[in-house]
Amino acid sequence: MNDKRDILVTSALPYANGPIHIGHLVEYIQTDIWARFQKMRGHRCYYVCADDAHGTPIMLRARQEGITPEALIARIALEHQADFAAFRIGFDNYHSTHSPENHHCATLIYERNRDAGHIAKRTITQAYDPVEQMFLPDRFIKGECPKCGAADQYGDNCEACGASYSPAELKNPRSAVSGAVPEQRESDHYFFKLADFEDMLRAWTRGGALQKEIANKLDEWFEAGLQEWDISRDAPYFGFEIPDHPGKFFYVWLDAPIGYMASFKNLCDRTPGLDFDHFWRANSSAELYNFIGKDIIYFHALFWPAMLHGAGFRPPTAVLAHGFLTVDGQKMSKSRGTFIRARTYLDHLNPEYLRYYFAAKLGPTVEDIDLNLEDFTLRVNSDLVGKVVNIGSRCAGFITKRFAGRLADDLMDVALFEDFVAAGASIAEAYERREFSRATREIMALADRANQWIDERAPWVVAKDPAREAELQAICSQGLNLFRLLIGYLRPVLPGTAVGAEAFLRIPALTWADLERPLLGHVIGEFTPLMTRVDPKQIQAMLAASKEDLAARDVKKTKPHETRSEGHLVRDPIADPIEYADFAKVDLRVALIQAASPVEGSDKLIKLQLDLGGETRQVFAGIRTAYDPKDLEGRLTVMVANLAPRKMRFGVSEGMVLAAGPGGGDIFLLTPDSGAEPGMRVK
Ligand code: MSP
Ligand code: ZN
Repeated sequence: MNDKRDILVTSALPYANGPIHIGHLVEYIQTDIWARFQKMRGHRCYYVCADDAHGTPIMLRARQEGITPEALIARIALEHQADFAAFRIGFDNYHSTHSPENHHCATLIYERNRDAGHIAKRTITQAYDPVEQMFLPDRFIKGECPKCGAADQYGDNCEACGASYSPAELKNPRSAVSGAVPEQRESDHYFFKLADFEDMLRAWTRGGALQKEIANKLDEWFEAGLQEWDISRDAPYFGFEIPDHPGKFFYVWLDAPIGYMASFKNLCDRTPGLDFDHFWRANSSAELYNFIGKDIIYFHALFWPAMLHGAGFRPPTAVLAHGFLTVDGQKMSKSRGTFIRARTYLDHLNPEYLRYYFAAKLGPTVEDIDLNLEDFTLRVNSDLVGKVVNIGSRCAGFITKRFAGRLADDLMDVALFEDFVAAGASIAEAYERREFSRATREIMALADRANQWIDERAPWVVAKDPAREAELQAICSQGLNLFRLLIGYLRPVLPGTAVGAEAFLRIPALTWADLERPLLGHVIGEFTPLMTRVDPKQIQAMLAASKEDLAARDVKKTKPHETRSEGHLVRDPIADPIEYADFAKVDLRVALIQAASPVEGSDKLIKLQLDLGGETRQVFAGIRTAYDPKDLEGRLTVMVANLAPRKMRFGVSEGMVLAAGPGGGDIFLLTPDSGAEPGMRVK
C-alpha cells in the first residue's frame, strides 16, 4: 500500500434554518463513503463539517419564531447532528460557523486580504425597508413582474412568464418582511477584488483541482471577466462584525467556507498531535478536499481558493461537485411526498439501504442522480439481502450448530480466495476515484461468484451425511471467508452492517490490509440477521408521511397572513383596500382541468385546458414547481374567467387559476368543495 497520506475532507455546511432532507444526504453519504474508505486504507483522514448559521433568512426565521438566532441555531444543530448520526455520517468534528474559531479565522483571512490591498470600498444603492429599518436582499422584495404584470413575484425572476429582471424593475415593489414600500438608500460596502487572483485561479484550475465540466465552466467565467464580490452587509444582520467597521457584517458566504477551517481548528485544539498549520499552510503536503453540490461551485471554485491564497493559506487540492437528486425522475416535490426529510426516512427505512442505493448510483461527475423508488426496493432486496447477507446466513448456522462456532483450519479453495483478494485493487481504485457505482458493481459480481460456489457444493445436502462433516465445515468456512471479504469491501458504504457482521464474526473493525489474510481456526458467534427486505409498504408509508409533514408544518407554523419563503416565514402584506364595485368586476368561475401538460422550455409553467361548463380556455399557470401535470387532470379549481388574454412566450393565456403560497414547492391550488360544477360563478 502507498504511504500514509494526511487528508482533510469536508462536505458543504447545511443551512441552520431547515431540516436535512434526502437531497442533502447524497452529499454527506458520498463524502462519508470516501472518508471511511481512506481511513480503512490506513491514511490519516479527517472529515469535518458544521452548520452554516449566519445570514438574513436565519435572522428573520428566529424573529418569526420569537426566539434569538442563537437559540434557533442551537436547536437546529441538535436536529442536524441526530439525523447525521442516524445515517452513520462519521464526522470527526461537527461545528458551527457561529463559533469563536470561525470568528478568528474569518477575521484573519479578511485582514490579511485587506492589508494586501484586495479589499475595495464602494458606495452602493440598495432597497431599504423603512419600517424594519433594514436593507433588503433581492429575494425579500416582491412586486409585479415588469414584463407580464403577474402579482407577487419575488426578487429577480417571474414565476409566471419566466422573465429575468433586476429587483429595481419590479412594479409596486413591497418588502416581503413588513409590506412597506422599499426606499432606495446608499450604503458603503466592502468588495473582494477577485480579478487580482485570475492568474492564480487559472493555474489552480489547470492543475487538476476541478472536474472537467467545472474547469470548462470556469473558463467561461474567466472569459466573462471576474467581478468584484460584495462581502459586507449592513446591520441588522446575524453574522460577524467587520473589524474597524461597526455596523457592517461579513456576508454569510464569506465566513461559510471558512467554517471548514474553523471546524478543523476546533478539532485540532482538543486533539493532541493534530497540527492545524500542517494542513493549512501555503504549499502544505496535506490534501484538502471540499465535496459540494453543483449549485455552489462559484463560491468554492473562485472566491474560496482566492481568499485562502490572498491570506497566505493553501487552496483545496480539489473541489469535488456532485449533481442533484431527483426522485422518480422529478425534482423532489412536497405535493408528491417526495420531499423526504432525513427524519421521515428514518421513521420507515434502514439508513443502510439509502447509503447503498446512492453508492450504486454515484459516479465522479456532476450528473444528477435519480432515486427510483421501485429500483431502490429491487436493488436493496436483491443485492444486499439476497446476495450478501444471504451468504452469511447460509454458512454461519452450520458452523455454530455443528462445529461450536469453529472455522476450519485451512481454506478449501485457496485460488478463489486469492481471486477475491486480488479484486480488491480495482475496487479500491474505484473508491479512490469516487467511482462508487463501479465499486458496488464489482463487489456484487464477487457476491454472485460466492453464491454460485456455495450452490455448487450444496452444504444443506452435505449436512445430511454424517460422513461428510469435515467437508461441511470446509464449505461453510470458505463461504464465511468470502462473506468477510465482501463485508470488508462494502464497509465504507455499509458501516452499520459491517459492525453487525464483525460482531458475529468476533473480529475487530476490518481494515483494507486485514482482508489479505483469511480467518481460520477462529471461533465465531451466533449469526444475527443483518438486514431485512424492503417492503414496498414502508415506501408508501414514508411518502404519505412526507405529505403529512408538510400539512403539520403548515398548521403549526403559519399564522394568518404569513407565508413561507425558502423555509422561513414572511408576513404577506394585505393589499390596499378596494371598493366592492372593483371586486365585482372580477368574474371567478369553477373550472374543470381537462388536460394539463408541461411547457417545453419552462420549468415553472403548466399548460392547462380548462372547462367552464361548455366553454374551454387555455391557461398557463406557474405551478410546475409544486405539481405534476398528470396529477391535475380531472381536478376542479377556481379561475379568473374575465382576465384579458395575455400573449406569453409560449402562447396566449386566457385567464388565471387561483392558488395560495409563496412559490417553489409551496403552491396550493384552490379547489371548491364537492358539489361545485364547472362554470359556476364564485362570489
Ligand atoms: N450553506 C450552503 C453551503 C455552504 S458551504 C461553505 C448551502 N447549504 S444547503 O443546506 O442549501 O446545501 C448543503 C449541500 O447540500 C450543498 O452542497 C447542496 O448542493 C446540497 N444539496 C441540497 N439539496 C440537494 C439535492 N436535492 N441534491 C443533491 N444535493 C443537494 O448551500
Ligand atoms: Zn412575468
